[in-house]
Amino acid sequence: MTDYNELRKKYVPRGVYLVNNVTVVKGEGAKVWDINGKEYIDFTTGIAVLNLGHRPKEVVEAIKEQADKLLHQCIHVANYPPYLELAEKLSNKYIWGEAKTLLLNSGAEAVENAVKIARYWTRAMGIIVFDYSFHGRTNLTMTMTSKHRPYKLWFGAYSPGIIRLPYPDPYRCPFKADTPEECGEYALEYLEKALKTHTDKEETAAIVLEPVAGEGGYVVPPKNFVEGVARIARENCILFVSDEVQTGLGRTGKFWGIEHFKAEPDLITVGKALASGLPLSAVVGRKEIMDAVHEGGLGGTFGGNPLAAAAAIKTIELVEKNLDRAKEVGEMMEKRMDELKERYDVIGDHRGLGPMRAFEFVKDREKKTPYPELVKELIKKGVDKGVLLLSAGIYGNVVRIVPPINIGDEELEEGFNRFEEALKEALRSVK
Ligand SMILES: Cc1ncc(COP(=O)(O)O)c(C=O)c1O
Repeated sequence: MTDYNELRKKYVPRGVYLVNNVTVVKGEGAKVWDINGKEYIDFTTGIAVLNLGHRPKEVVEAIKEQADKLLHQCIHVANYPPYLELAEKLSNKYIWGEAKTLLLNSGAEAVENAVKIARYWTRAMGIIVFDYSFHGRTNLTMTMTSKHRPYKLWFGAYSPGIIRLPYPDPYRCPFKADTPEECGEYALEYLEKALKTHTDKEETAAIVLEPVAGEGGYVVPPKNFVEGVARIARENCILFVSDEVQTGLGRTGKFWGIEHFKAEPDLITVGKALASGLPLSAVVGRKEIMDAVHEGGLGGTFGGNPLAAAAAIKTIELVEKNLDRAKEVGEMMEKRMDELKERYDVIGDHRGLGPMRAFEFVKDREKKTPYPELVKELIKKGVDKGVLLLSAGIYGNVVRIVPPINIGDEELEEGFNRFEEALKEALRSVK
């Protein structure tokens, strides 16, 4: 039998990291199977991509149907229905007014294009981002990303014009505030001051924020912060960009993560779950802003590929039908996570919105000392027990639980049972 670990070692560069030492050959719903036929509950969904689980039947059918008609047609060469029908569908998901949609390939490409459009519209260069943010791995989006190692180390020179500000993590408030709201207030004060001390509103094109910090550790920012950021942007004629690459498509229990807040984004970036696993991303935004760029200024060869676009049209329909289930799943997860926090004092915090949730592990609840060694071990034991897990967070001490938003009760329960078994074993082996 082929040794895929060996192939990987020999032919794939070391920089392409691997979390679960498993070779997956099949997926269905919330489960995957490895090369030896072992079954796993997938609490990673390929990093928040398979919101409807592996191979949703109707999406697979839409892909097959499209494959029989047209595999590629560049949108600059000719019209083709899936691109235009998806653009219509996504534009109508922008609930704050009339919108237009640009289709692309990856989350990073969507963020890059949102920045291009914002700079064009405002004729300003500055982009404000926050600690904890992750926006991609291209030069610009890597610069916008906050965690230095592993994403940025030795990859400079970085892209100019990026201004990074403190992020009000309610669990580890950088301002040592007593409440999340107070932490949010301090972060807003800092932002307002930064428009005097770091830059000026006239030099600032956009503020880019994830409604829930994804790679940063599934941190839900205080409501007043998100709403204040949108308000400050508006008052200063700066665009507010909601990076929904990880939070979009029902991941938080609403279609867009930003819908949890009274905050109106000018532009939204979306990717990951958009096409149930095929590569596709988009910028959706206010019509006049999206339309500002001159003809030929936006696009690419593959953006809005017919197969991916056909998959996305069906995915959006199914996500809409599953939003109530997503909320239910989120509530079940929260309850189960509360119980686990009661039983294990290494769980310093658990948090999230809807079925986008995470545990933060600490050595000591009072000092909140991060416990990344335990997380590493927990993920390994998860593989033994049959549950796939993924870490996150500035300190690598967060485990995110990202099941399909429509996972069944039994699979969710079983996934948590396996998680708890893995945690018990991990605790035994790190002590
Ligand atoms: C919020 C956010 N933005 C952008 C990206 C980059 O997306 P991609 O990996 O598809 O380039 C990610 C990926 O994790 C993300 O979570």
